[in-house]
Amino acid sequence: MKLNITSHAFEKQNGTFHVSLVDEEQLQQQLQTLAITQPDQWLELSQYKAKFDETQLLIQQSNHAPALFLVGLGKARAIAGHKLIKLAHSIIKSLQNKAEKIILDLSALPQQFHYHFALALTQASYSFNQYKSKKTETILQEISFFASHLSTTQLAFIAAIHKGQNFTRDLGNQPGNICFPEYLAEQALVLAQEFPDLLKVTILDEKDMAELGMNAFLAVSQGSERPGRVVILEYSAQLEQKPVVLVGKGVTFDTGGISIKPAAGMDEMKFDMCGAATVLGVIRALCESRLAIKVVGALACAENMPSGKATRPGDIVTTLSGQTVEILNTDAEGRLVLCDTLTYIQRYDPELVIDIATLTGACVVALGQVVSGLFSADNTLANDLIEAGEQSFDRVWRLPVMEDYQELLDSPVADMGNIGGRFGGAITAACFLHRFTQEYRWAHLDIAGTAWLQGAQKGATGRPVPLLMQFLANRVQD
Ligand code: BES
Ligand code: MN
Ligand code: ZN
Repeated sequence: MKLNITSHAFEKQNGTFHVSLVDEEQLQQQLQTLAITQPDQWLELSQYKAKFDETQLLIQQSNHAPALFLVGLGKARAIAGHKLIKLAHSIIKSLQNKAEKIILDLSALPQQFHYHFALALTQASYSFNQYKSKKTETILQEISFFASHLSTTQLAFIAAIHKGQNFTRDLGNQPGNICFPEYLAEQALVLAQEFPDLLKVTILDEKDMAELGMNAFLAVSQGSERPGRVVILEYSAQLEQKPVVLVGKGVTFDTGGISIKPAAGMDEMKFDMCGAATVLGVIRALCESRLAIKVVGALACAENMPSGKATRPGDIVTTLSGQTVEILNTDAEGRLVLCDTLTYIQRYDPELVIDIATLTGACVVALGQVVSGLFSADNTLANDLIEAGEQSFDRVWRLPVMEDYQELLDSPVADMGNIGGRFGGAITAACFLHRFTQEYRWAHLDIAGTAWLQGAQKGATGRPVPLLMQFLANRVQD
C-alpha cells in the first residue's frame, strides 16, 4: 500500500475515489465544498445524515467529478479512537475491490486523530488468503491524504509499521504444519538476506542448547518431532550503544503436552508463536524505517507436544540460570522456553529487555481482548510503554509483579514450581519470569488476549508491533 499526501482534493482519473469524512454537525457546509451539483436537493433525496459509520457512495455526479464516498463521523468533536477503527474497516471493505486509489479528505476529523486514522486504515487493509484457491481480488493500492495533519515522515513511519505488522500477521496465521521452529528460523534468515547491511542472524539448535544447559527450554521441545530453535537477530549491531532486547515466545503449536488441552478451540494454539512473530515484525519495521537504534531480537521457538519423549508432570530441570524448576504442568511451557532465553540474552549486555508472549489464559480473563497485560517492576519503563501504547493506539494495562505473589511458586522439592495455583495466573507467570530477569531492566507483555481475534474475524492482529515501534522511536527522539 502506497501512502502519500496530496494538495488536490479531486483528481479525475479512472479508478480514483474521493473519500470524505463528514461531520454530522457540519453536513450542509461540507457538502458545499464537495463536487455535488445540488447539495440541498441531494440531501433531501438521499436522507443522508452523516451519522456514525453511515456511508454513501455516489458514482459520477457529472463528467468532471470523481466517484465520491461519504463516511459519517457522527459528531466529530465526540469521536473516540476505537470508533475510528470501525470507520477504517468500513472504508476498506467498501472500496478495496472498487478503487485503485483513494483520496481521503480528513478535514472534518479532529487533528489529533489523523495519525491514528492513517495507521488504522493500513491495518484494516490486511487480508490473508494464501490458502484460498479462489482469491478475492483487492485492487486498492494507494491512499492519498488530503487536508490532513500528517507529515511525510509520519507516513513513512506508518508504512514501515504496516510492513512489519503484516509480516507478523502472516506468520501468526500460518498453520502449525507449516510454521514450526525451523520455519521461523528460516524466516529470520530470509529477512537478513533482504537487509544484509542491517541484520545479523544467529541460530541455536538443540545441541547448542544442551551444551549451554538450557534444560527448561529443552523440556518443552523434547516431546516434539520438530526440533526447537533459539533465533537471535541483531539490528544495527554497529551502533555504539547497549541494545534494547526483545524476546518473543515462539511456541509454534501448544497442545499442552502431557497436561493436554481440551479439544475445543485448540486450533487457536497455532497462534502461540505470536510473541516471536511480533519480534520478527518489529525487526522488519526497523529495517524498513532504518531507525537509528540498536535492537536485538530473540525468538524462543519450540513445539509443545505429548509423546513418549515428552516431559512428565513432576519432572525437575535445572535452568540455564542454575535455578531448578519442578514442572507441575507441561501446559505452562511458555515460561520454560522464555526463562532460559531471558538468561541467554544477558550476553548482549542489554539496556533493557521486553518479552512478548501469549503467556496465560488468565490474562485474557482479566483484561479481555482490548489491552495487553504489562508487568514491570520498573516504573519508568512501564510508563514509557503505557505512553507508547496510547500514542499508537495499541494499548497496555499494568498489572503487578510484586514480591508478595512469589510464594505461590514455592515447591517442596525444587527452587520453584512452574505454576502458581488457581489465583492470579497472569501475575504468577510474570513472577516466574521475574526470577530470571534480575540482572537488567525488564518488562513483560502478555499478549494472549490481543495477538489474535476469534470467530468470523479469526486471525492474527499483528499487535503489539505498533506499540513497540512507537516505544523504540520515542527512545531515538530523546
Ligand atoms: N499458550 C497458553 C496461554 C493461552 C491460553 C493463550 C489461551 C491464549 C489463550 C499457555 O501456554 C498456557 O497454556 N497457559 C496455561 C498456564 C496454566 C497451565 C498455569 C493457561 O493459561 O491455562
Ligand atoms: Mn500452554
Ligand atoms: Zn503456550
